[in-house]
Amino acid sequence: MAEKLISSKGQLQRLPLNIKGLDENLEGGVPRNNTILIAGAAGTMKSSVCFNAVYKEAERGGNVLYITLEQSYVSLLNHMINMGFDFNKVDVTIIGSDPAIIKKKVQQMKQSKKGHIILSDLGSLRATIKGKEAAANWWNIIFRIIKALKDDCNISTLAIDSLNALYVLTNFKDPRNQIFQMFTSFKELDLTTFLISEMPRDGSRLGYYEVEDFLSDGVIVINLVERNRKVTREISVAKMRATNANNDVFTLEFGKRGFEALYGGKMPLV
Ligand SMILES: Nc1ncnc2c1ncn2[C@@H]1O[C@H](COP(=O)(O)OP(=O)(O)O)[C@@H](O)[C@H]1O
Ligand SMILES: [Mg+2]
Repeated sequence: MAEKLISSKGQLQRLPLNIKGLDENLEGGVPRNNTILIAGAAGTMKSSVCFNAVYKEAERGGNVLYITLEQSYVSLLNHMINMGFDFNKVDVTIIGSDPAIIKKKVQQMKQSKKGHIILSDLGSLRATIKGKEAAANWWNIIFRIIKALKDDCNISTLAIDSLNALYVLTNFKDPRNQIFQMFTSFKELDLTTFLISEMPRDGSRLGYYEVEDFLSDGVIVINLVERNRKVTREISVAKMRATNANNDVFTLEFGKRGFEALYGGKMPLV
């Protein structure tokens, strides 16, 4: 499927990141059906920020697919429960890659009126992969699941956590070329896609192969910044196509009201 041409500004649909103070600086959110890179060093809350956006989409009744390759779904859910996400408001379904089981689960999902968070992790994928198919072909396996669910389940949003883990699992002969193909496939899916990218702490690159940022429609960067021994998280929109974005750096905080991007940030404690 090709990208759709809009006829007026109002037609562009957006998916809020559900970060107070940042969505307002993004005309309401990221353009739907775009590919958004969330880049940051370890512990910058990339997974949390991404999950926070897709959770809200499910809370609104949407169906989302979150593929966690770095941590198990149990570890991810434990973290999110600890952060206070209410899993009574959404349905969570764990899937592997067995088409017959996926079909069965899709039937069950269709009986519920709540939005769905469909989770898949390496363990559940591994357990259902038959024979030698796996090894070098993780990307094909994952892409097949995404396509099957998209058509069957009306998925609006996809998250891949993380690209780095996917790279480790994929045997690239010509990485830049294959990543280009991978991004083309993402675009053709017509989903709002969040791709998590672990970047080095010195911020020297946003994606492992240094092509991910220009191949993405939007790039959100989270940094850990130390001042007088106090470490704060800072978030900024490096790029957002079709959006009059404010590119300033905001302090990212998580509290009882969820995520907030504070303009200018708080002064660090001395
Ligand atoms: N309320 C909270 N509950 C749990 N972890 C929190 C909370 N607030 C901040 N964190 C931090 O979130 C970090 C992990 O977030 P995560 O999204 O997994 O990061 P990343 O994906 O960037 O590695 C931990 O370092 C933890 O200290
Ligand atoms: Mg993570």
